Amino acid sequence: MSRKLWLPYAQMDTAPELIRVTNAQGVYLHLDDGRKLIDGISSWWSVIHGYSHPKINAAAKDQIDRFSHMMLCGLGNDPAELLAERLVEMTPDPLQHVFFSDSGSVGVEVAMKMAIQYWGNKGTPKSRFLAFRNAYHGDTTACMSVADPSEGMHSTFRGLAPEQLFAPMPNDCGSCGGGCDHLVQVESMLAAQASELAAVIIEPLIQCAGGFRRNSPEFLKSLRRLCDQYGVLLIFDEVATGFGRTGTMFALDQAQVCPDLLVLGKGLTCGYSAHAATLASRQIYAGFNPSTASPAFMHGPTFMGNALACRIALAGLDLFVEENRLASVACTENQLERGLSNLSVEGVVDTRVLGAIGVIEVDDPKRLVGAQAFAMERGVWIRPFERYLYTMPPYVITTQEMDRVIETMRAWCESDAFQSGVGT
Ligand SMILES: Cc1ncc(COP(=O)(O)O)c(C=O)c1O
Repeated sequence: MSRKLWLPYAQMDTAPELIRVTNAQGVYLHLDDGRKLIDGISSWWSVIHGYSHPKINAAAKDQIDRFSHMMLCGLGNDPAELLAERLVEMTPDPLQHVFFSDSGSVGVEVAMKMAIQYWGNKGTPKSRFLAFRNAYHGDTTACMSVADPSEGMHSTFRGLAPEQLFAPMPNDCGSCGGGCDHLVQVESMLAAQASELAAVIIEPLIQCAGGFRRNSPEFLKSLRRLCDQYGVLLIFDEVATGFGRTGTMFALDQAQVCPDLLVLGKGLTCGYSAHAATLASRQIYAGFNPSTASPAFMHGPTFMGNALACRIALAGLDLFVEENRLASVACTENQLERGLSNLSVEGVVDTRVLGAIGVIEVDDPKRLVGAQAFAMERGVWIRPFERYLYTMPPYVITTQEMDRVIETMRAWCESDAFQSGVGT
């Protein structure tokens, strides 16, 4: 079968036909055959305020009528300036400067380039990174280099992506206070390689695409201390965790840790358009200061600071206040905890809940074959991967709708297809 539209991560000859969406409102996807599905995963975790929110729509339409895009070189636009100010206000004080780019992956690349150039500008060049196993930071080259090293992309692109260092990622290290095995390993790697390492990069509190492994606030505090001790920068990739997903506006708020560089994406533009932000501390910014004859930061994508994307982001941030989004996330978290924690069936090895993230980990990926079709029959859209049946719903989901998602996930685990481990 030959297709014009090439799909992500898909063997095109065997990829199933796409399910066609003709309209989407709130948490509902309306299909061309008349069915409607609750989107249990917010279009890859981005549509945090639901589809077609009237206030975001109005802001977007107004901006389109003025102009959608204006190059951010020589010309300025209010939405980009205002969004940079808002992001600085919302994040810890050392983060004072915002560099916009087109996607989460590019935002991570920007952070990595900033870290490398920062050290180069200081006259102590360092260009390697310490990352964590199971991590996912995006699909562009530098991002692949800091993603899990045993995952397919590393072998496919060996030679293109630079070789980095990897530390094991803790899993649910709820109470580690600084002396756990994982930190001991991180410290020994830092002690041995600090002179080469530009930065440590981590998804704070939870790795999402890498299997929902959790790291604790204490782990992040210790990581900050070790980075300071060994003179290595710290990058938080909050592309997935940012904007309320873990229960606080940012995961760093729970850890009370400020990285040197913070990457935001996905929920930033509420699933309306692609955009990302890399926030840098005063110290990083000062490393590019012309008074020290330091070269300027060498990056400048066409669509950085896109006025439409920034206007959408501003409208989305207003909704956190106007519609008390973090309270909704807290309700969803409670519901997920009540709904998943007592799931005790053969084949389920763990359930995990953090903010508006609910995960059922199973012992064998074969058990999840058929789960998506099963959920669709019950009016729910989810997309399990590997050994994870999960939901990351839009925050506007009601308790009844969330119940439907949870019941569907539980019902699959209790089904004969799951229990026989061969799917349907
Ligand atoms: C933690 C993290 N970083 C980066 C990315 C890449 O973002 P994008 O797909 O917008 O390039 C993702 C995407 O899932 C992510 O989860």
